[in-house]
Amino acid sequence: MLYLDTAHQSPLATSVRQALESFYQEANAFGGPKPVWLERVERVRARAAAFLGAAAGELAFTKNTSEGLNIAANAIDFAPGDNVLLIEGDHPNNAYAWLNLRRRGVEVRFVKLGQGVADASLFAPHMDARTRAISLSHVTFHAGHRHDVASVGRLCRERGIYLVVDAMQSVGVLPVDVKAMGVSILAAGCHKGLLVPQGLGLLYVDAALTELQPVYLATAGLARPPADLIANPNDMALREDAGRFEIGNYNLADIHALDAALDLIVSVGIANIERHVLALGDRLIERMDALGVGLVGPRERARRAHIYVLDLPVETWIGFLAQQGVRVSPERDGVRVSFGLFNTPDDVDRVAGIIAAGLQAPVSA
Ligand SMILES: Cc1ncc(COP(=O)(O)O)c(C=O)c1O
Repeated sequence: MLYLDTAHQSPLATSVRQALESFYQEANAFGGPKPVWLERVERVRARAAAFLGAAAGELAFTKNTSEGLNIAANAIDFAPGDNVLLIEGDHPNNAYAWLNLRRRGVEVRFVKLGQGVADASLFAPHMDARTRAISLSHVTFHAGHRHDVASVGRLCRERGIYLVVDAMQSVGVLPVDVKAMGVSILAAGCHKGLLVPQGLGLLYVDAALTELQPVYLATAGLARPPADLIANPNDMALREDAGRFEIGNYNLADIHALDAALDLIVSVGIANIERHVLALGDRLIERMDALGVGLVGPRERARRAHIYVLDLPVETWIGFLAQQGVRVSPERDGVRVSFGLFNTPDDVDRVAGIIAAGLQAPVSA
């Protein structure tokens, strides 16, 4: 098939599959060398943290983006009457984590995006003394906007509020530097740009934010877990690092997969991956312009990444493209084409040719 759907999930890379197979082989042959696996967890934690510009102690493993966003929303000591700013129409998982705080009297303010991408000037007019956090996607799944997170980060720092970022779409595709962007908490899953099967998430928590507290508690989150494995109610001090947000055993298979995925991504270079998907985007825009097919999201390079939503009626075109062996996603405003490091200029030409043919012989439902 012609796979243009990294924004949905990545196909499994051969080297990542091999890492999973060798993990399962170890489990099968030895019943699991758990201490060895746990050493690897710490190594992969340090690598993944460095990949985000963070220290190892600032990274917790989660299940997915939503878990990370919920941890973030519940770690902040909101008081009734406080508010949080979100972008209207952002990923629903970023909205529900915060809407769930309404029962604690927190106000959720949805800011309209309008034209362009989000930056500090979009949020500033909606802030007041009770604004405690802004939460937004780095890259939007529904139209591929690449928001100016660094500018929002500067605003949040000036006002002393938290910036929470959903980097599900950007991590592994664009350079993500949490310090440069001024992020307080970042949540992402690993099954898109990070090339890992579903079930592993990354949660960055700025080390300086020691006031953030986990809602859930398990032995893993304690500074001094009881050696006798009997809960000690008199010593429940939390770990100081992001490990305080972890509970229970890890998704060990996926963490092994992430190690191999990082090998692949780092060997190519994240800046090269960004350049590559942008060049594929340039080519797609040129081809679509020639066919008179509009682009739903931003056209300017600085405001886009790997996601391009074509202004074609979803009901008719999704079926047609599937019949032609093209894997894309239906989106709210059109057909979503998204690129990964494995796509080629020829893939763009092929999909453009298929769309040209569909336009010639109008596609029927
Ligand atoms: C921006 C964004 N956030 C979150 C998710 C998914 O959340 P989760 O990792 O919790 O499944 C997606 C897509 O699946 C997404 O595009």
